[in-house]
Amino acid sequence: MSEITAAITAVGGYIPDYVLTNAILETMVDTNDDWITSRTGIKERRILKDTSKATGFLAVKAAEDLLAKKQLDPKEIDLVLLASTTPDMPVAATAAYVATEIGATNAFAYDLQAACSSFLYGMSVASSYIMSRRYSKILLIGADKMSSIIDYTDRTTCIIFGDGAGAVLFEPNHQGLGHQDEYLRSDGVGQNFLRIEAGGSLNPASEETIKERKHYLFQEGKTVFKFAVSNMADAAAKVMAKNNLTKDDVDWLIPHQANKRIISATRERMGLEEEKVLMNIGRYGNTTSATLPLLLYDYEQQLKKGQNLIFAAFGGGFTWGAAYFKWAYTTDN
Ligand code: UT7
Repeated sequence: MSEITAAITAVGGYIPDYVLTNAILETMVDTNDDWITSRTGIKERRILKDTSKATGFLAVKAAEDLLAKKQLDPKEIDLVLLASTTPDMPVAATAAYVATEIGATNAFAYDLQAACSSFLYGMSVASSYIMSRRYSKILLIGADKMSSIIDYTDRTTCIIFGDGAGAVLFEPNHQGLGHQDEYLRSDGVGQNFLRIEAGGSLNPASEETIKERKHYLFQEGKTVFKFAVSNMADAAAKVMAKNNLTKDDVDWLIPHQANKRIISATRERMGLEEEKVLMNIGRYGNTTSATLPLLLYDYEQQLKKGQNLIFAAFGGGFTWGAAYFKWAYTTDN
């Protein structure tokens, strides 16, 4: 049997129409465009305004975009994995809804939650299934309706997050392309610094939890920033060293979009030129599970077959890591 690797063979994406600019945020909380731009690199984010629609809707849109581009019959899909931290409901799995909506009637489906590292971990899961030869077409979607858990009176969080979704297809590859290696870690100390306190089994929803605004995302920004800077850069550097990659061997860094300064620190640690870093934080903010696939969606035409990509992420938990992929295709146009 020939060796197989797990490669991404198609990309799709979706961002909602409504643009929440820094100027609009200035009318909502005590902030200003200068502060937001210099501290985060964010200029605007997209928000899914329709309150009857949620993460599942974003995920379906991104998946449909991929299916149309790839001309793929959804019945061929074996597994739909939804990386998300804002499922439509605590129960049932949003992935099952998404699979049914897109017509993936021969697939099983489940959600995967690791905050901002959800998609990175999902790439590991999808790759492992493919490399084990158990499944051969896996749709991995990263989607989050972050606006559903953000307190728009809290200036320390509402300026950061946005809504969006990206989708990729994983298939076997016989040329050694796709997933090469990874370095994934977690540290439960993060629970104290980035969390939604209520609504889970520890603090079920009650009148009191609502009054105390405990259903919104809380972040101790400075502490999270310190952990993110050192760990994301460290993971990316470790994956490079483990695979004997010099800065010249790396074609693209695909980093989680939480803060431009965290991305810069990771790039510097890797010794990379700025042109090699994919970035769209200015337009979308932090879309949590959707940042990595939305970068692939936005930059797909610049990625060439055989190029070396380093993905890196850091998020709540804490969870973080980096993955080394060889890109598997070049687009026609
Ligand atoms: O993706 C998941 C992982 N998350 C992250 O990686 C996020 C990591 N953290 C960060 O990106 C940054 O810590 C933030 C962007 C959240 C905050 O930036 P910072 O440079 O760490 O600011 P800070 O929290 O130290 O606050 C500095 C000052 C404070 O005022 P004083 O105490 O110095 O007078 C804040 O009250 O800025 C103030 N401030 C603001 N001012 C204007 C905080 N938020 C705002 C705001 N507008 N929106």
